[in-house]
Amino acid sequence: MADADRVDDLQLGVDAVPVLIGPVSYLLLSKPAKGVQTSFSPLSLLGKILPIYKEVVSELKAGGASWIQFDEPTLVLDLDCHELQAFTEAYAELESCLSGVKVLVQTYFADVPTEAYKVLTSLKGVAGFGFDLVRGTKTLDLIMGGFPIGKYLFAGVVDGRNIWANDLAGSLVTLHALESIVGKDKLVVSTSCSLLHTPVDLVNETKLDKEIKSWLAFAAQKVNEVNALAKALAGQKDEAFFSANAAAQASRKSSRRVTNHSVQKAAAALGDSDHRRATTVSSRLDAQQKKLNLPVLPTTAISSFPQTPELRRVRHECKAKKISEEEYVKAIMEEISKVVELQEELDIDVLVHGEPERNDMVEYFGEQLSGFAFTINGWVQSDGSRCVKPPIIYGDVSRPKPMTVFWSTTAESMTARPMKGMLTGPVTILNWSFVRNDQARFETCYQIALAIKDEVEDLEKAGINVIQIDEAALREGLPLRKSEQSFYLDWAVYSLRITNCGVQDTTQIHTHMCYSHFSDIIPSIIDMDADVITSENTRSDGKILSVFCEGVQYVAGIGPGVYDIHSSRITSTAEIVDRITETLDVLEPERLWVNPDCGLKTREYTEVKPALKNMVATAMIVRTQLAFAKEAVCRKWD
Ligand SMILES: *[C@@H]1O[C@H](CO)[C@@H](O)[C@H](O)[C@H]1NC(C)=O
Ligand SMILES: *[C@@H]1O[C@H](CO)[C@@H](O)[C@H](O)[C@H]1NC(C)=O
Ligand SMILES: *[C@@H]1O[C@H](CO)[C@@H](O)[C@H](O)[C@H]1NC(C)=O
Repeated sequence: MADADRVDDLQLGVDAVPVLIGPVSYLLLSKPAKGVQTSFSPLSLLGKILPIYKEVVSELKAGGASWIQFDEPTLVLDLDCHELQAFTEAYAELESCLSGVKVLVQTYFADVPTEAYKVLTSLKGVAGFGFDLVRGTKTLDLIMGGFPIGKYLFAGVVDGRNIWANDLAGSLVTLHALESIVGKDKLVVSTSCSLLHTPVDLVNETKLDKEIKSWLAFAAQKVNEVNALAKALAGQKDEAFFSANAAAQASRKSSRRVTNHSVQKAAAALGDSDHRRATTVSSRLDAQQKKLNLPVLPTTAISSFPQTPELRRVRHECKAKKISEEEYVKAIMEEISKVVELQEELDIDVLVHGEPERNDMVEYFGEQLSGFAFTINGWVQSDGSRCVKPPIIYGDVSRPKPMTVFWSTTAESMTARPMKGMLTGPVTILNWSFVRNDQARFETCYQIALAIKDEVEDLEKAGINVIQIDEAALREGLPLRKSEQSFYLDWAVYSLRITNCGVQDTTQIHTHMCYSHFSDIIPSIIDMDADVITSENTRSDGKILSVFCEGVQYVAGIGPGVYDIHSSRITSTAEIVDRITETLDVLEPERLWVNPDCGLKTREYTEVKPALKNMVATAMIVRTQLAFAKEAVCRKWD
């Protein structure tokens, strides 16, 4: 962040702002530990944590901080008046210790609702308020409608969540308008949120196309943009910087790399019949069973098998051109053949090829689709210590040629059992990429869906009868505010349905979801109209099952994971039997699949083999039990 008139200080890095999670958001985002009464509200601890905040503030003041930032991102959520009241109380309580230092309360990731805006801008002891004006454009109207006199406005006009260069001319217009409301010396230019969400620097991206690169800004470039805007406000506009930026904006708008008219046309022409299979899931499952002839409680692995160091070495050497394409293909085929053999040995019913050719479930597809670019160093932190390198979607998406058909058919030819085709769904590809900001997210998603549809149909033509389309990120992409959720869920569900609405009844569509907070979106999950849904289950103590106790009508196939792949502990058959038996109390055996929670990519074979062995053994035990039970009933009627 750069205060308009203190740019020089900041460039020297002298006046750093310590950032703390604000007391109310800290509690609102906390979860009571397992076993604590559900009626317990973390917010009731406010009185206990405020003295600690006071201590920290005093120490920071003593250390010479001139500004302290409190992040209160929960102010963008749907809060009730009791929760909003907590902000008023907390800052009134802190007020006395906030004198002698300027305090900024920062929000981000969405609009601040009107009520919350009133509460926020009336907080005691606070010198400035920060807003995300990229994702929260409605907040701009609230500010224009009134802002407290004498307070600082931190205007987040540079996008901290995406990698596009700022439209500096447009931002300057916004900033001038804001200046007329809050006053010249009270306007601070900032990024919309922390720069944690963008890669560090474009400077070493030597492989990116030059034109595309000119459209981008990573964290280092964003800081320059903030500085340039602040300087321009202070009357020192860097004309060269602004005109280079304007040229890049213009080139992006008119570039032939961005627009593919035939893709635009196909997406615009999508109608109702393009996202609905014509038949009901029950009739399809019957048709599929005739073709696949599976036992009750069919077993399957989710997607990937362990990625051994040897595999990674082969992929790496292929990329570095140290081995030939033929050698690479041979090595991957050998791996697939091992994975197929292992699954046959374990007696799994529906096989996977193990995905040894894939580095990542999004990058692998992005690399083969038009409209995607890749960085060398564009890493961002995802959760905790994990990092990802998301692709950049810069243009209309199309699929020049089949992406997975070769590997899937190769694998299929190695076995008489059904082989699943394995695809990543459009919503997940979208959510795990940096997405264009020059068209609505749903439009980009429909384009990806149409590209995946081409792939689904090619797999079907090549004789693959079971196709899994993973939507690991469907729940993750849910907007923060309830008022926006149903629109999102509609287009997200349409997108998945677009991919497979053209297949025959006998082609079985699976989808997998690697999470379990299911119950709030269960109508949408049913609406996805997949033939079989597999999902994580064990880490949520079987919570998924609870939705089926609440009278939800569910007729499709379902495979709640029977063991936790994230744990290296081998789950015993007894435990799995219990889990399946419990599931059978709420679901029909004809609909139930037996599978692990997730893909096995990160595991070792020494764990995977015994775990899958137990899983298959369990399915056999329960099948026998079911058969006995049926026989007993039938004998009664004889
Ligand atoms: C860019 O590459 C140079 C030369 O390898 C290196 O010294 C520098 O640290 C790199 N910069 C970034 C931001 O990675
Ligand atoms: C445009 O999209 C179509 C598919 O709709 C594709 O066949 C064509 O190759 C694409 N053109 C470019 C330049 O990517
Ligand atoms: C997926 O989308 C949600 C909502 O926009 C976002 O919070 C999340 O960070 C995204 N995931 C990734 C990996 O970018």
